[in-house]
Amino acid sequence: MKIFIEGGRRLKGEAQAGGAKNSALPLLAATLLTDDEVILRQIPNVEDVRTMLKMLERLGKSIVALDHTTYSIRSHGKLCSTAPFELVKKMRASFVVLGPLLVRLGQAEVPLPGGCVIGQRPVDFHLKGLQALGARAELINGVVHAQAEKLSPTEIYLDFPSVGATEQLMMTAALIPGLTTIHNPAHEPEVYDLANLLMKMGAGVTIEPTKFIMEGVDKLKGTDHEIIPDRMTAGTYLVAGAITHSEIFVRCHPAHLEPVLSKMREMGLEFQANSEGVQLWGQPYRSVELETRPYPGFPTDLQPQMTALLALASGESLVKETLFENRFSHVPELVRMSANIRVVGNTALVKGVDHLEGTAVQATDIRAGAALVLAGLAARGTTTVVDPGYIARGYENLPSELRKLGAAIMIEDDKGGET
Ligand code: UD1
Repeated sequence: MKIFIEGGRRLKGEAQAGGAKNSALPLLAATLLTDDEVILRQIPNVEDVRTMLKMLERLGKSIVALDHTTYSIRSHGKLCSTAPFELVKKMRASFVVLGPLLVRLGQAEVPLPGGCVIGQRPVDFHLKGLQALGARAELINGVVHAQAEKLSPTEIYLDFPSVGATEQLMMTAALIPGLTTIHNPAHEPEVYDLANLLMKMGAGVTIEPTKFIMEGVDKLKGTDHEIIPDRMTAGTYLVAGAITHSEIFVRCHPAHLEPVLSKMREMGLEFQANSEGVQLWGQPYRSVELETRPYPGFPTDLQPQMTALLALASGESLVKETLFENRFSHVPELVRMSANIRVVGNTALVKGVDHLEGTAVQATDIRAGAALVLAGLAARGTTTVVDPGYIARGYENLPSELRKLGAAIMIEDDKGGET
């Protein structure tokens, strides 16, 4: 797919964040923990979610769409313990089906995951945690084979507050009767969303600053749950507004965006947040230093978009990426658009320029693709973002939502059709 953007237009109006992809994926996996009906609302219509829904169907779930964002999920017959390679390879988040399958069936076979090429992204924390709970895990020909006659509650120490490992272990521990403590867990809002779902399903979750205490039960029940708004999509729209010096309102959960808003305020941007979302008043902005960190630090999933924004800030910025070792693939593309950015180790040195030039650029992952679209909104002339499907993995209609805000943006699909 190609996305053509005619830069230089001011945006105006209101954008809606939609449900969080990074919540929807583990919460969908959590439906494997019960045979009862689980209704999940505000599921975003993005490619990664469609992959997870296909995965659940292959594992023995029947899924009924109650409306375009609400799904009813229940088991039909026995669950299958083997996750299909062709689905797991598309998306790293699918690996979190391992724990739920293992705790339900006593065994699970899940291929090592694929996903965005933003770093090595091993799964050792997931496996060490499951082993601490009593599982045996072996890697045979690229497939993790996990088995356990009996899983027992225990103390787990994570080497790093990994989002996926925390979620994997919370889900598994929810169905192991007794108290399991996860030390050094991730505190991302999406992890708390999973905690809320697991509590509604009948598990106990006590959240403390340095640990989660999971009170597992022998059976979890169905429930009805609405997923939180997507803070990455909301943040992407706010950057779209800022980079075009526009006034826009973004419907979202402002508290989850505070680490981002605080950095953008430091840049001289002005916001007003209320319970419905965030109003941005676009104006010139200045450089900052930022470092990606686990929540409530600055999110790595908004680093590429912020780098695009800082490419046009007055002054010199430093952007340090501490989560993933290969997350600057948008930089050579921004440089192609006349940005002045140099990457040294895990830090991008960004010297603000007064304009970017539209040209052809390549999307290399979900957020890098979004960053290039945002840069195109502000660039002189036409930017063509060549995207083999990354943006649609994480965003529901990003180009058409930006067009509703007044952007001059057009899509050409691979068959040559235009929208
Ligand atoms: C999740 C998000 C992703 C986000 C990331 C960091 C979902 C579906 N995806 O990914 O969008 O960018 O959090 O906020 O929620 N690590 C290991 N061993 C492991 C697990 C992780 O070394 O077993 C490392 C990773 O390589 C990375 C760091 O830990 O350097 C954090 O990764 P993690 O928090 O696990 O990210 P994901 O859950 O994959």
